[in-house]
Amino acid sequence: MERVLRRASSLPGARRSTGACPVLARRAAESGGARGLLRQGRDGTRPSRTVLSPPVRAAVSSESGSKEKKARPLRPKYVPNKIDDPNYVRIFDTTLRDGEQSPGATLTIDEKVQIASQLSKLGVDIIEAGFPRASPDDFKAVQLIAQTVGTRPQEDGHIPVICGLSRTVQADLDAAWNAVKEAAFPRVHTFIATSDIHMEHKLRMTEDEVVENAVNAVKYLKGLGCDDIEFSPEDAGRSRPEFLYRVLAEVIKAGATTLNIPDTTGWNLPLEFGGLITKLRENVEGIDDVVISTHCQNDLGLSTANSLAGAQNGARQLECTINGIGERAGNASLEEIVMAIMLRGQQEMGGLRTGIVPEHIYMASKMVSEYSGMMVQPHKAIVGNNAFAHESGIHQDGMLKSKETYEIMSPETIGLNRTIDAGIVLGKHSGRHAVKTRLSEMGYEVGSDDLDEIFKRFKAVADKKKGIKDEDLEALVSDQLFQNTQVWELLEAQVVCGTMEMPTATVKMRGPDGMEHIESIVGKGPVDACYKAVDKIVKSPVNLLDYSVNAVTEGIDALAVTRVCVESTDERLAYESASGSTRRRNFTAQSSDTDIVVSSTRAYVNALCKMLTVLKNIQ
Ligand code: KIV
Repeated sequence: MERVLRRASSLPGARRSTGACPVLARRAAESGGARGLLRQGRDGTRPSRTVLSPPVRAAVSSESGSKEKKARPLRPKYVPNKIDDPNYVRIFDTTLRDGEQSPGATLTIDEKVQIASQLSKLGVDIIEAGFPRASPDDFKAVQLIAQTVGTRPQEDGHIPVICGLSRTVQADLDAAWNAVKEAAFPRVHTFIATSDIHMEHKLRMTEDEVVENAVNAVKYLKGLGCDDIEFSPEDAGRSRPEFLYRVLAEVIKAGATTLNIPDTTGWNLPLEFGGLITKLRENVEGIDDVVISTHCQNDLGLSTANSLAGAQNGARQLECTINGIGERAGNASLEEIVMAIMLRGQQEMGGLRTGIVPEHIYMASKMVSEYSGMMVQPHKAIVGNNAFAHESGIHQDGMLKSKETYEIMSPETIGLNRTIDAGIVLGKHSGRHAVKTRLSEMGYEVGSDDLDEIFKRFKAVADKKKGIKDEDLEALVSDQLFQNTQVWELLEAQVVCGTMEMPTATVKMRGPDGMEHIESIVGKGPVDACYKAVDKIVKSPVNLLDYSVNAVTEGIDALAVTRVCVESTDERLAYESASGSTRRRNFTAQSSDTDIVVSSTRAYVNALCKMLTVLKNIQ
């Protein structure tokens, strides 16, 4: 993983890597596209005749877990308003923008850059990196992503487009363009609502005023030098089609290159949404000269179906998020859309394909859920814990006879490699090399410093617990790789509790000043007492919104994973959302230990550290 490999080097260092210059980077991307032609026939697009299609088998990192190099799918040269291959569907990921709008999903700048790096590796065509006007912190994150991920080619030369969201107001447009302009392929996405409900109650604007605002925004962006402009008529799914025809034709004339059609409230049904895309293709003047996109929310659980219906009716950009996170019930999920197109695109969608490298899906999913604190439900398609689990006797019998009986794709396709190779069972006598090998089989390329820490924790757990399972290892890795810089470090936590009346905690921490601080306090219970002691030391008041403990495996010696979500009461952490409302940032973090009190206290400290990191960035 990027973070592990780059950990020692600070983020700005990444700017010095190949392709830091937008022009050179763009050239590298273009020549990479040409090189890619030599690989024709090995991309993920050949016809599938069996249920588990040949392209999927080709993408599987072999059942034995060996790490052969996969060919990345071919992608047409990037031109904002057209795609040379009529079957190529651009994947526009908005995890860092719409996804971060999920309650509790605050990400630090460092986390955003790491997620963007993983999205680039995954082969995402366009990364919507944020809403730069929301806060200085959001601006900085988008700018850093544009300067780093947006200029650094992947091995096939691919560099993702970096996009910033903006309302149609000038200050937003300036912020969005300034944040993305150093990317090799910068884009600004501007939007204004077009449904009667939004125009009347939210905007208090007439249709003419909305058209004028939309057109002026696009022209203004062109004037700034932006030639990749996406326009969204917000709440298109509930807008009058005739008004959509008008506003869309006008923004095309003004210079928009992508028209995104959001079903903002998740209201549409698949046939209806697909029909809307067809109607737009038939009625909007100039629409053949732009790319049509979808942005489907999941309020009725139809976002994936609606996005696919959009593609089947001519949309060639699909907006989505990793794990489907996003406002309210979330967004269309990248992994679902991509795997549906990969598995069924040839047979059922007239040959549609994407440029996604599926073996990076699992790591992207893991990274987003760890950083955002938005857990993936066990039965979530593609990336849920149960997505490849077979419980019933009939199913297990079928699987033993042939995996194709109940699996339409193998877990390895998405980079999930769980089978233990070469009979290695990890325990207290295992060495560093065995742990590193197993982590690598699980998809974690861990750098030496991180491995030292993970190994130390592994030994401590292995001393108390017989047989370390993948789940245990994953919990330890999460603690090390997906947690923030330790502004404050928990050194010791000790509690006295039981049937007596005064549960007492003594906590020792090392502060940013390098000094040790100790406090003791009485609480309602041992965890409450520890949190109070931490508060007394750190002195950054928060509200605890959520607390949960789960055992990673069965048994009395199981590792306990604690997750906490805190809300800052600091006014500096309030921000303006794209919908105009002021929100407070929440911070989620986790930790694991065989001792519940220790894992709970560490998780709380991790959440505070995340909050303090974000606060530091905005000062
Ligand atoms: O849901 C929505 O309408 C949006 C737009 C800004 C595309 O997020």
